[in-house]
Amino acid sequence: MSTAVCPGSFDPVTNGHLDIVSRAATVYDQVIVAILVNPAKSVVFSVDERIAMLEAAAARLQLGNVAVLSFEGLLVDFCREQDARVIVKGLRAATDFDYELAMAQMNSTLSGVETAFLATSPQWSFLSSSLIKEVVRFGGDVSSLVPPEVADGLQQRLAHRADH
Ligand code: PNS
Repeated sequence: MSTAVCPGSFDPVTNGHLDIVSRAATVYDQVIVAILVNPAKSVVFSVDERIAMLEAAAARLQLGNVAVLSFEGLLVDFCREQDARVIVKGLRAATDFDYELAMAQMNSTLSGVETAFLATSPQWSFLSSSLIKEVVRFGGDVSSLVPPEVADGLQQRLAHRADH
């Protein structure tokens, strides 16, 4: 059975992430969405909230072969624990490439776990979690860019709070 890991912070998950996860789910038998727990990073949503949002989105998209887990430490150690031999990442534009290439080469060197890149679908190529949060902080509408529970959560936590 082929298992792929789609890693990230997912603070919060966007339609761009979901596009990559759902397409990975058509290529591999099982996809594990792996949420990095990083206490050094300030986040809007707790790990449990991010897991719940991703699980709700995966259920709505009827992605029966997608599981959502969190991890701490090195991604390649998590991949080994899960018996996953491939990491799947989306590439939005050339600006992603240098950073992603270095991580892919490091992960391959450390462990032999390979990285497969999927080209982000053009309608989501401008999307990032940080841009989404900025738009909501300043009162913008992101409901066409994120799943509904994420839009609601962002509204409650960030909307009209440009001081945050
Ligand atoms: O969504 P992000 O924040 O761009 O995701 C980055 C992530 C989680 C994929 C990356 O930071 C990561 O893999 N972190 C785990 C620690 C690790 O393995 N670092 C070495 C990477 S070569």
